[in-house]
Amino acid sequence: MVELKERIDMERLPNHVAIIMDGNGRWAKSQNQPRVFGHRNGVKSVREVSEAAAELGIKFLTLYAFSTENWNRPRFEVNALMSLLVETIRKEVSTLMDNNIKLQAIGDLSKLPNQTLEALREGLEITAGNDRMTLTLALNYSARWEIMEAAKKIHWDATKGLDTEKLTEEIFQQYLTTAEIPDPELLIRTSGEQRISNFLLWQIAYTELYFTETFWPEFRKSHLYEAILDYQQRERRFGKISEQSA
Ligand code: IPE
Ligand code: IPE
Ligand code: MG
Repeated sequence: MVELKERIDMERLPNHVAIIMDGNGRWAKSQNQPRVFGHRNGVKSVREVSEAAAELGIKFLTLYAFSTENWNRPRFEVNALMSLLVETIRKEVSTLMDNNIKLQAIGDLSKLPNQTLEALREGLEITAGNDRMTLTLALNYSARWEIMEAAKKIHWDATKGLDTEKLTEEIFQQYLTTAEIPDPELLIRTSGEQRISNFLLWQIAYTELYFTETFWPEFRKSHLYEAILDYQQRERRFGKISEQSA
């Protein structure tokens, strides 16, 4: 593991890593346990990966924790996830403080249960002054919702005098929930699924995608190092040819 970490080129670290944390349920099943057992064990991975990212010097880590579509799961599982969020945020605030990590959240937070929202607000407030890394939780997040909201706000601002003819990608970006966060260079999805599931659609236009078979509850620091090493092997051309990118 130490070896893997040492192979990482610190000059070419991604500034922002986003992760679709998937496979909790299937991992639990493989252990003959209920799905919620998988979610509980996923918390350890969140802690490990947050620490690893901060230690490396990654500035932004964004974790997909609950999608808008996830409300359609059995009520019992949704409730368990919401309680787990409360418990985890409360318990992990000290880890965030120890590591100088600022907590942020994106998504339609207004639809979260009161208790979850309260714990979240506390976490955001306590860690607001931290500046080593920003850990953003995507909660009740949907990229299409986010883009629709941006369109609505722009429409509203247009009635107040915004000149939509002068709208640029940079200005549009300011209307997204990620306005303060640069686009991710690297997006990781665990558990073997190769899809985006309504995550950061606008922001990942040029992101490098990394898929791994590892289930989220088994994801450790070494897995993050492997993903970064893979990313560092790639040539990001942004539409140009190799000779221009060099
Ligand atoms: C990811 O694991 C956690 C959430 C979506 C909240 P899953 O619960 O989706 O696990 P699988 O995909 O069913 O194995
Ligand atoms: C995506 O995982 C959402 C999160 C990781 C929070 P899902 O497990 O919900 O995705 P699908 O439904 O398999 O695409
Ligand atoms: Mg899943």
